[in-house]
Amino acid sequence: MKKQPILKLENIHKSYPSTLGPETHVLSDINLTVDENESIAIIGPSGSGKSTLLNIMGILDKPSSGKMLINGDDPSEMSDNEQALIRNRDIGFVFQLHHLLPQCTVLENVLLPVLACKPKADGPTQERALRLLDRVDLTHCIARKPSQLSGGECQRVAVVRALINQPKILLADEPTGSLDKANSRELAELLAELNKEENVTMIVVTHSDSLADIMGQTFTLSDGNLSQ
Ligand SMILES: Nc1ncnc2c1ncn2[C@@H]1O[C@H](COP(=O)(O)OP(=O)(O)O)[C@@H](O)[C@H]1O
Ligand SMILES: [Mg+2]
Repeated sequence: MKKQPILKLENIHKSYPSTLGPETHVLSDINLTVDENESIAIIGPSGSGKSTLLNIMGILDKPSSGKMLINGDDPSEMSDNEQALIRNRDIGFVFQLHHLLPQCTVLENVLLPVLACKPKADGPTQERALRLLDRVDLTHCIARKPSQLSGGECQRVAVVRALINQPKILLADEPTGSLDKANSRELAELLAELNKEENVTMIVVTHSDSLADIMGQTFTLSDGNLSQ
């Protein structure tokens, strides 16, 4: 029996209402099937709807019409609490800006998603945090605050934070967008390696050729449609 796709988008359409004129049509008819452990890059011009599409995949936004299934389940049929659980447990997010909490240390930042569900990180979770921080060469930084890190280091912390709950899917929105060329390439390689090591399905929106090239498949979003 064929395995269930981890993510399936069927005829997704998204418009934003406007008070000044006609509504903005962003996504027209998006169809995409993503299998477990795949790595996908989505490229496209600025304003083409890449973030909108990624937010729909991450249950941060709702499509105007169409269907999305995560592991066969339809989030639109779930309560807000059930959606929040899936978002926290099954999906990791990385954004262009790291969004680390400035008052927390690197280790505390990484453990934040755990504390959404439990009062305290248990031993195995702490060990996972330390192992992943070591994996991304940040062991020497665990007690530092984000202001004491470089941009590339902050993004690596953000990647570890996104992976801490062992998500099934990692969604990254221009994760190298604020990095220089060398750091972009390094983060791209790291993401590709973690896709395999952590068995996480990866969907990355990017302007970077080096990141898109390293992903298994590349799709282009333009005029509301996704093409390969
Ligand atoms: N919350 C919103 N309300 C109204 N329009 C929006 C909203 N979010 C995005 N848009 C519009 O949708 C289009 C696509 O935006 P976005 O998904 O951010 O594109 P990209 O990430 O490819 O640059 C843009 O025209 C943007 O202005
Ligand atoms: Mg965007």
